[in-house]
Amino acid sequence: MTKHILLLHGPNLNLLGTRQPEIYGKMTLDDINAAVRRHIAPYEIELRIQQSNHEGELVGWLHEARGWADGVVFNPGAYTHTSVALRDAISATELPVIEVHLSNVHGREPFRHRSLLAGVCIGQIAGFGWHSYLLALDALLREWRLKSD
Ligand code: DQA
Repeated sequence: MTKHILLLHGPNLNLLGTRQPEIYGKMTLDDINAAVRRHIAPYEIELRIQQSNHEGELVGWLHEARGWADGVVFNPGAYTHTSVALRDAISATELPVIEVHLSNVHGREPFRHRSLLAGVCIGQIAGFGWHSYLLALDALLREWRLKSD
């Protein structure tokens, strides 16, 4: 049976490739999305990808995901460290959500060490550059496998 994934990118991630490449790498968001599509090609997975710089829009997509998605891979960008609204929206989805970061947020400024979201996600993957997204997808595949066993 086809599984459905929402890949959600938060604020400023539209600038990837040119935004602080020493921290976030040289891949653009389109490059990353293409790598993700290649990675899941062997599986029966339908992927929807959204990016927004607006918190409310991200909340809205999480609400919609309740109706169609089986899991969410989410890089919430800076909202990771500030957003109670996104935390509540993640909880409301009742879906497996994986928080992803390109950079190792725990080795950066102290305000990035705290995630308001990780506690309501099934887990967090950070620090592996664009590869973090592939690791998150693998984690989601594993989660589904564990649930069906
Ligand atoms: C980020 C880490 C956040 O702290 C930062 O605000 C971002 C990107 C990452 O992918 O490493 O915008 O989520």
